[in-house]
Amino acid sequence: MKIFLIGYMGCGKSRWGKIIAGHYGFRFIDLDTLIEEREDLSVSEIFEKYRESGFRKREYDALESISDKENIIVATGGGAPCFSNNMEEMNRLGTTLFIECSPQLLRERITESDTERPLVKNFSQDELLNYIIRHLNNRMPFYEQSHYKLVSGNLELDDFTAILDPIINL
Ligand code: S3P
Repeated sequence: MKIFLIGYMGCGKSRWGKIIAGHYGFRFIDLDTLIEEREDLSVSEIFEKYRESGFRKREYDALESISDKENIIVATGGGAPCFSNNMEEMNRLGTTLFIECSPQLLRERITESDTERPLVKNFSQDELLNYIIRHLNNRMPFYEQSHYKLVSGNLELDDFTAILDPIINL
């Protein structure tokens, strides 16, 4: 059983991934953290050293490396479903769940977060919102290929278990 959490930066994939993994006794894997460990570099350093294309290659490889693992909840990076055949592959390997979130809330979460995100650094608040709106729009056709979708805002664990219990056969 593999569950992939999909969605834009700041939608809550890592936060919910940890909570869901704890609930089901599954292993939590943060794909960005896995890439950082495999390279011994931070995501920002990988972007600087190898550019975005080098990061995407490593993201693809990291995804491949967990394809034989079972009982895992994976928080994917916001761009992971949008490159190579990653979305198709995740749908084939397991269950994908898209956490949808409004651009305004994404901006708030990205601004408040400590996570370094090379794609959205150095923007003013207006620029950031405009970027998120455009970027999210481009990515939506990939995110929408997920098996399930929840809308972020007032999510609770019950919202996830209502979807996942029948799949996990509880
Ligand atoms: C990215 C999202 C990030 C990380 C990298 C690129 C993206 O992950 O993979 O900075 O392209 O949206 P989060 O969604 O966990 O912030």
